[in-house]
Amino acid sequence: MKRPSMLLGASLALLVFAACGSGGGTASPGGGTARPGGGSSPATSPAAAACNDDGGGTAVAAVDFAFEPGLVNAGVGDTVTWTNNGDAPHTVTFDGGPDCGQIASGESISRTFDAAGTFEYVCTFHPQMVGTVSVTD
Ligand code: CO
Repeated sequence: MKRPSMLLGASLALLVFAACGSGGGTASPGGGTARPGGGSSPATSPAAAACNDDGGGTAVAAVDFAFEPGLVNAGVGDTVTWTNNGDAPHTVTFDGGPDCGQIASGESISRTFDAAGTFEYVCTFHPQMVGTVSVTD
């Protein structure tokens, strides 16, 4: 798995960049989706467009340290909501994007699936935490 270290590197690069960017005043609070090291990924959609805070739909719990259930079935247009019921922070990061980002303990993130397919995801902090959303028409 190369993704965790790549994302970590990108995050560190962003932190260094932010630390050096004094006086710019143009930093966007929502600018966390830039991936300087992600040149090989064909996905260009911003994460904000694919992940949301809508809630509802099929519930998946992120516990320490697994997604439960690991496989959920959904229809096109359905929403899946992940809630972190553990103590550690977890992420919902889809193969090829989007990266729904970090979910703090007690918080939730949702994604609405607009197309059929098999969508696999991982927690970048804990590579053994994997899950799949199977979306059918
Ligand atoms: Co995790």
